[in-house]
Amino acid sequence: MDKFIIHGGKNLRGTVSIGGAKNASLALMPATLLASGKYELANTPDLRDVFTMSKLLQSMGVTVERKDHTLHINTFRVNKFEAPYEHVKKMRASIYVLGPLVARYGKAKVSLPGGCAWGPRPVNLHLEALKKLGAKIELDRGYIIAKARRLKAARIVFNISSVGATGNTLMAAVLAKGTTRIENAAMEPEIINLAEMLVSMGAKIGGIGTTTIEIEGVDALHPAHISTIPDRIEAGTMLVAGALCNGKIRVENCEPAHLSALTARLDDAGMKLSVGSSFIELHAPKEILPVAVSTAPYPGFPTDMQAQWIALMAIAKGSSTVTDTIYFDRFKHIPELIRLGANIELNENTAAIKGVKKLIGAKVMSTDLRASAALILAGLRAEGETEVLRVYHLDRGYEAIEKKLQNLGADIKRVAGEEF
Ligand code: UD1
Repeated sequence: MDKFIIHGGKNLRGTVSIGGAKNASLALMPATLLASGKYELANTPDLRDVFTMSKLLQSMGVTVERKDHTLHINTFRVNKFEAPYEHVKKMRASIYVLGPLVARYGKAKVSLPGGCAWGPRPVNLHLEALKKLGAKIELDRGYIIAKARRLKAARIVFNISSVGATGNTLMAAVLAKGTTRIENAAMEPEIINLAEMLVSMGAKIGGIGTTTIEIEGVDALHPAHISTIPDRIEAGTMLVAGALCNGKIRVENCEPAHLSALTARLDDAGMKLSVGSSFIELHAPKEILPVAVSTAPYPGFPTDMQAQWIALMAIAKGSSTVTDTIYFDRFKHIPELIRLGANIELNENTAAIKGVKKLIGAKVMSTDLRASAALILAGLRAEGETEVLRVYHLDRGYEAIEKKLQNLGADIKRVAGEEF
């Protein structure tokens, strides 16, 4: 298991380029199951989660080859319709194969995802929506068994905005008979990217990017080439790194419109920002102002930036609160940030943070992807040496994060291969 060793206190300077969005790739890749043939997915990040999804598709007979950042996928020979526990336990997004498999092949067997490091994450909305579309769903010893002759259109009203359930339902409904209407659909950019891929495959979808999506089912789709949108969470993480480390940085190859909730709060915290069509420049002030945030579905403040924001507020001049309304238990980073000298109290799903003058290096433990990012950011700011253990979580969602940070002037290195 790798670890990172960071010597904090370096000012960040320079330009960092953002890769393709993990959460978009994890939806685009299973969408290839919807029509036989050859696909090219450009700007696909080289991440452990993408590798896991590739392995899952390969286990079904799909060919997946990476050339630089383009995935070449061939779905001519799909011969298995199952997502076994080994894959799903590594990555919940494996559930994304359910909709396409039932829609195209009329059958799927997908392991139920377990809980996450930060709590239970149900899939009831995915299953209810598929049932509405006419699939027969049974749960058998930890597996979802879904069957359907041809799915039939339905009106689906989600009581919670869910990225995954919207994506799965969209992929199922494109081949259903009739016009499906999804209400309270997720508006995340990754869902728009997926919908646009489906349209380029011949799907008929209206209301893309709104909370009401209408899908007129077609009899068959065809393969397509698509480019993955930039990763707004990687971009946001780099901006917060700059904010914490007296940065003068330029984040390139991002989509600033996808980051507006974060940039508005960075502005409130005193950052000088200059926003272009595909870049954001950030110039950090001497003092960081405390700014309360509450996570919300897009276009609100992303839950995937909550941990990093807490790291930033840990050294703000004053007190702030951070509330997670999406995942109530997603706070495993707090005890670790406290090891670095932060003053944070957790009350249910709200962290009350009293800004401290300085953080001091310590040994801390990664528990999940975004918590790990927050610990790296805090370590970059802390005086002295910070060791972040179990950084394999980071490799799920950040490509070469240490190299990108090194290029900005951070003193961070990966120590590989030992058992810590
Ligand atoms: C996706 C993202 C994840 C992000 C999350 C919220 C991917 C691969 N992952 O996860 O990075 O943190 O959106 O922005 O895109 N819920 C239910 N029942 C369900 C499904 C969800 O109650 O069947 C609840 C969840 O517990 C959560 C809320 O709905 O409280 C939103 O979750 P959802 O948007 O579905 O998250 P994911 O798609 O799993």
